[in-house]
Amino acid sequence: MEGFRVTGGEKLQGQVRLEGAKNAVLPILAAALLADGDTVIRDCPDIRDVHAMMGILETLGCACRMEAGNMRISSAELKGWELPDDLSKQIRSSIFLLGPILGKLRRATVPYPGGCEIGLRPIDLHLKGLRALGVRIAEDGGMIHCDGRNMHAGDVYFDYPSVGATENVMMAAALLPGITTIHNAAREPEIEDLQHFLNAMGGHVSGAGSQIIEVEGEEKLRGIAYTPIPDRIVGGTLLCAGAVTGGEVELINARPRDLMPITDKLKEMGCKVHEAEDRVRLKAPARLRAFSQLQTQPHPGFPTDMQAQMLAISCLAEGTCVIVENVFENRLSHVADLCRMGADIRVSGRTAVVRGVEKLHGLPLCARDLRGGAALVLAALAAQGESRIERADLIDRGYAHLESVLSGLGAQMERVEVTESR
Ligand code: UD1
Repeated sequence: MEGFRVTGGEKLQGQVRLEGAKNAVLPILAAALLADGDTVIRDCPDIRDVHAMMGILETLGCACRMEAGNMRISSAELKGWELPDDLSKQIRSSIFLLGPILGKLRRATVPYPGGCEIGLRPIDLHLKGLRALGVRIAEDGGMIHCDGRNMHAGDVYFDYPSVGATENVMMAAALLPGITTIHNAAREPEIEDLQHFLNAMGGHVSGAGSQIIEVEGEEKLRGIAYTPIPDRIVGGTLLCAGAVTGGEVELINARPRDLMPITDKLKEMGCKVHEAEDRVRLKAPARLRAFSQLQTQPHPGFPTDMQAQMLAISCLAEGTCVIVENVFENRLSHVADLCRMGADIRVSGRTAVVRGVEKLHGLPLCARDLRGGAALVLAALAAQGESRIERADLIDRGYAHLESVLSGLGAQMERVEVTESR
């Protein structure tokens, strides 16, 4: 098993260029199944979730090649409609394949998806959306069998703006004759990026970024080369690394608007943030100040994928922060390890009250999920002494070579073999 060894106390300084966003690339990889020709995704991050998705696409008959940050997918030989159980359980985004496989082959069988252990994460909204398009669904023995022979365009209403369910329906509808309308759609920037991708393929999708999305089905979609939007969560995590170490970090190839919920909180904490067209520079104060409160919400609210990292840096801020996790019901598992490091955090239900302390101590730690793992890295960067963080594989799901990126900014961090288990 691999882990990270981090010796805290270095001020991080320097520039990092952001790569394509995990949450944009994964649905785009799924949507590549809809193309008649080859798709090339530029700036594709070298992360485990992308490799897991590549593995699944290959078992369906696609040829995938990753070379110098460009991923080429050839879906000409797509024949499989059944997702492999083991690979699909590794990433929740395998559920995104339901929509495009149905759109292209009119049948699909998928296992219940896996992913981070951050809550129940049901898929009822995905299934509701597909049923509204005429898909007949039978569930048995952990498998979901979908019959799309009578698929048609239609109206879909989501009780909650689920990111994945919105994307699934957009992809399922892209090859269906007629107009599909999604009501109460998710508004995340990655949904807009999927719209841009589908339209570049020759599709007709409009409204992404608002609560109503219209998809006018096309007979065919073509393969294209596409550069996805940069990763706002990786960007936010690196800004937090600069903030918690009293450093100065600049993101290049960033979209300041997408980072606004995060930079707004960092400004409240006393950081100076300078935004240019495709750059964001942060200069941290000698000590961070507490923000009054942070509530995770669907976009444009504060992203749940940055809650753990903000909680970690608030442990060292002057004052008391209140953090409420509204999106997932089990996303505060990093708190126990932060408390062992010396943080003062009280949790009640989905609310964490963080009273800032002056220092944290390095310790042996273990990541429990992707973003919670990143939070432990941030705490370790600012802690006194050495920390070892087990389960690098969970962090590698969404951060490409995090130890190299942070070492490049001056951190003392390396990847190590971890043999002993706590
Ligand atoms: C996506 C992101 C993930 C992010 C999340 C919320 C990707 C690959 N992943 O996940 O990083 O944390 O958005 O911004 O893009 N829900 C249901 N029924 C469903 C679907 C979802 O009840 O059928 C609930 C979930 O349990 C959760 C909430 O809706 O409480 C949000 O989930 P959703 O927006 O679907 O997140 P994902 O698409 O899984």
